[in-house]
Amino acid sequence: MQHYFIDKPHAETDFFEFSDTVLGYELCFRSCDSIFSNHKIDDGSRALLNAIAKNEELAGFGLDLGCGLGVIGISLIKHFGVKMEMIDINNTAVNLTKQNLIKNNVQHSAIAYYSDGFKNINNNYDFIVTNPPIKTGKVLLFDLMEGAFNHLKQNAPLILVIRKNHGMESLKKHLIELFDNCEIIARDKGYYILKSIKK
Ligand SMILES: C[S@@+](CC[C@H](N)C(=O)[O-])C[C@H]1O[C@@H](n2cnc3c(N)ncnc32)[C@H](O)[C@@H]1O
Repeated sequence: MQHYFIDKPHAETDFFEFSDTVLGYELCFRSCDSIFSNHKIDDGSRALLNAIAKNEELAGFGLDLGCGLGVIGISLIKHFGVKMEMIDINNTAVNLTKQNLIKNNVQHSAIAYYSDGFKNINNNYDFIVTNPPIKTGKVLLFDLMEGAFNHLKQNAPLILVIRKNHGMESLKKHLIELFDNCEIIARDKGYYILKSIKK
């Protein structure tokens, strides 16, 4: 089976566009079949964004870890006026995010680039948000969590979404070991929104 995070060559005909509304913003995305949630905003990403808008006051400079088409980062820029870095291991996703930043008129508030986890990342952030790549397996997922811990400023949160039946309890346990705290800030139809703060 080919995973959505494995890149492959594309023809121009593989690309298309869709529009969707999140947090009250009508957003437009150039997309492609091989990318995660390519025809609509993923329910988990939407649950994450709703929970953040309701419970958090994000400010400053954030990271969208595994940005896909750019849904999470673009929505947060629209809602909070934050600056973002957006990274993905899939070059097609990175290129589409660059185009989607322009399409949604927020290209001056973010940069998107290729990175396998934190390998190409040199900054520390005021917040990190992610709908993490669960299918990579626990070892890589926990590596990403450790990378996030190492790249957060003091008192900065990691906020993520995971389904209960995709390993929420074991991820929460790992986050408590790493950060010494993990709070469930929202639950939405089987999606759990977890927040850990770097003390
Ligand atoms: C669940 S998808 C979320 C995509 C997007 N944020 C959204 O909400 O639609 C996870 C993303 O992580 C990316 N990914 C997988 N492994 C990665 C890694 N090691 N480093 C960076 N990104 C990775 C995938 O390519 C995919 O775009």
